[in-house]
Amino acid sequence: MPLQQQTLLRDAMRRLNMTRDAFANRIGVARRALDTWLLPDESAESRAMPEIASRYVMEILERTPAGDEYTQRVQSPSILYEGRPHLLSVDQFTRDSVEALFRVADTMQPIARRQKITRVLEGAVLANLFFEASTRTRVSFGAAFCRLGGSVCDTTGFTFSSMAKGESIYDTSRVISGYADALVVRHPEKGSVAEFVRATNVPVINAGDGPGEHPSQALLDLYTIQREFSRVGKIVDGSHIAMVGDLKYGRTVHSLAKLLALYRGMKFTLISPASLEMPASILDQITRGDHVVEQTSDLHAGLKGADVVYATRIQKERFADESIEGYTPDFQINQALVESVCGPDTLIMHPLPRDGRPGANDLSTDLNHDPRLAIFRQTDNGIPVRMAIFAVLLGVEKQVQHSMRDAAWKAPAYIGPDDAVFHGVD
Ligand code: NCD
Repeated sequence: MPLQQQTLLRDAMRRLNMTRDAFANRIGVARRALDTWLLPDESAESRAMPEIASRYVMEILERTPAGDEYTQRVQSPSILYEGRPHLLSVDQFTRDSVEALFRVADTMQPIARRQKITRVLEGAVLANLFFEASTRTRVSFGAAFCRLGGSVCDTTGFTFSSMAKGESIYDTSRVISGYADALVVRHPEKGSVAEFVRATNVPVINAGDGPGEHPSQALLDLYTIQREFSRVGKIVDGSHIAMVGDLKYGRTVHSLAKLLALYRGMKFTLISPASLEMPASILDQITRGDHVVEQTSDLHAGLKGADVVYATRIQKERFADESIEGYTPDFQINQALVESVCGPDTLIMHPLPRDGRPGANDLSTDLNHDPRLAIFRQTDNGIPVRMAIFAVLLGVEKQVQHSMRDAAWKAPAYIGPDDAVFHGVD
């Protein structure tokens, strides 16, 4: 089965680091034609790319540096921690390995959209070990594993695990490794997931280690930013991201800031009260290179000119006392603020959950119908990205493409009844 045209085109734009307009120009087609080639096959406006155009794209890729052996086969990215297949931190990635992973994620799209199925992980078992609250991370890792044909065993919270009886992380990890082929772990202590790795040879994925890191979330966030930017004619290099809220304890922003720092000429505006500023170790990493980093507690001024506004929840569970000094309603992202300071193409993101309780000052629901709000496209992207992570860690990424069959059931065209649609162009 040849590479899907959408995967080839997205890969080409990533490798050439071109906006959609620049790429359409490079291959000598109208932007509108390129848009229709990028739409999912099941979309009414989707068109097949002519054979000659796909050969031309391949030729261009062969002529780009490091593209000399460009083939239709999926090239294998690696996700290695101390030489073994585990995912603990975004520090394990280079820009090339991130983009190779995204190419695998693109091949997963027809499965994520429920048009195709695969059984490449048939017989494999995932242990989903969550010692902290979770909805989307736990369920999406589980769903991603199932959509590759595997099965999932879950444990949630300390109360119902043997850790409540004093069992060590080492023992728990070694025991579970005898039952499962991969471990996804969330734990309230920073660095704890690395301890799980010490007791096992099966792949371990960090699904959040206290205020430490959340690498899979950062990967799906960056994947979302790239896809959304592609539609509005931007590239990641040189873009401006404003991160808002609890930058001290929010692990998603720790991982995302470091991942974005792999790109060139980024501008980071870090907006928080003084009590919740980004840790010095992360600041140190992102101020290397040619990036501009600004810290402010002025939300209005900080959001000006941002291409991405990334809001976060206050991590109340990580505060020793209940006081959250300085986190006032002035930090809330809502429709009125977005209208007054953001541009028509500004993306509004959040890792979710957003705290909807009165006085929480989290991302407002009054933006729900605004197409700039990308939060549910973000969560949807968690499936192809987490499928790609599993496929690479378990070494089946090359088999997925050939193993796909049509799904027998009919999935809805739009998952959410209120999902924003961008002029029919994905
Ligand atoms: C976040 C987390 O748990 O770190 N959510 C997520 O995984 N999508 C953010 C949060 O809890 O606020």
